[in-house]
Amino acid sequence: MKDRIYKRFQELYGAGGEIGVYFAPGRVNLIGEHTDYNGGHVFPCALTIGTYGAVRKRNDRKLRFYSMNFEHLPVIESGLDDLKPRRNAGWTNYPKGVMWALEEKGYELPCGVDLMLYGNIPNGSGLSSSASIEVLTGYMLNDLFDLGISNQELALIGQFSENRFNGVNCGIMDQFAIAMGRRDHAIFLDTADLSYEYAPIRLEGARIVISCSNKKRGLGDSKYNERRAECEKALEEIKREIPVDSLGALTEEQFEKVKGAVKDPVRRKRAKHAVYENQRTVKAVEALKTNDLNLFGKLMNESHISLRDDYEVTGKELDTLVESAWKVKGVLGSRMTGAGFGGCTVSIVKDDAVEYFIRQVGRSYKKAMGYKADFYVVEVGDGPVKL
Ligand code: GLA
Repeated sequence: MKDRIYKRFQELYGAGGEIGVYFAPGRVNLIGEHTDYNGGHVFPCALTIGTYGAVRKRNDRKLRFYSMNFEHLPVIESGLDDLKPRRNAGWTNYPKGVMWALEEKGYELPCGVDLMLYGNIPNGSGLSSSASIEVLTGYMLNDLFDLGISNQELALIGQFSENRFNGVNCGIMDQFAIAMGRRDHAIFLDTADLSYEYAPIRLEGARIVISCSNKKRGLGDSKYNERRAECEKALEEIKREIPVDSLGALTEEQFEKVKGAVKDPVRRKRAKHAVYENQRTVKAVEALKTNDLNLFGKLMNESHISLRDDYEVTGKELDTLVESAWKVKGVLGSRMTGAGFGGCTVSIVKDDAVEYFIRQVGRSYKKAMGYKADFYVVEVGDGPVKL
């Protein structure tokens, strides 16, 4: 892949100069959904699919962008002195956002760059193609300009760019999982203080299967920001009863005692999800540590039910995928992953059931929705690298 990227870069922008080729993964979250902006735990892992990028310094302040995923589009030009989000700028708003965020945080970008990307994560699928571009851009510029930024800081810069440049009030999970990924490990991250632990993913005799609904999801225009606001409001109401920093700091018992403070029943359900999902995540990681994959799977299923009934972020596509997965023998657990409202599901499937799973869930989905789902049997990979 490196050679292909390198060659295309030269064809496009001309030979000469030092061209760096890099890779940053996508991520899948195993459990802990919509908990990261509630001070709770998440349990994602980086994948071996992701985004490749090539970059070279320029001797002026111009920026040139190109994506091998959109070969029908021309090179897009911009400038370091014009780092503003634009509606029609498409994916270039992500690298531009990171450049803007670096400057906001006091890092100087001394010159413009030619940049080219190629991603093999299905776009808008909930596997964090945008966070992958953000972390990749930060990683490339950090290396190119010797900025001395740690991977954890790159994750925060990516999140900052997403929040402030691209207008999505996301938490830290995606950028953190990507920047800090480790082969064959998931990251048990406490978003309250960013303390984390790597947990080996030893799925003896089972695989992680991603089912992609092919319903595109734009976070910005989805109800993501609305859910976040609902949780914030619920927390404010609870704070009037007991002193607490976040919904993630509450046990189920504490929540049951104070939930009456949350006046609106819909908002109460949202808060309930945040509290219970966080506790479920802690239990799931314990289950994995003791090799209890059945319990881990059961908690994944409960996570989906909560996201479906209390948080209401699933929709017919994701419910169809998950509910048909649950019927397949050899499925240990299945749930939606990421923000929801379309995108993907993640399932833990016994090796000898994978083929049947793909056929069977694929068939049910096509029948219910009228179009196809795609399936990926994935591997857990490392964070960003220079190739
Ligand atoms: C998106 C956001 C994350 C997280 C998930 C839901 O992926 O970017 O920060 O909130 O949704 O768990």
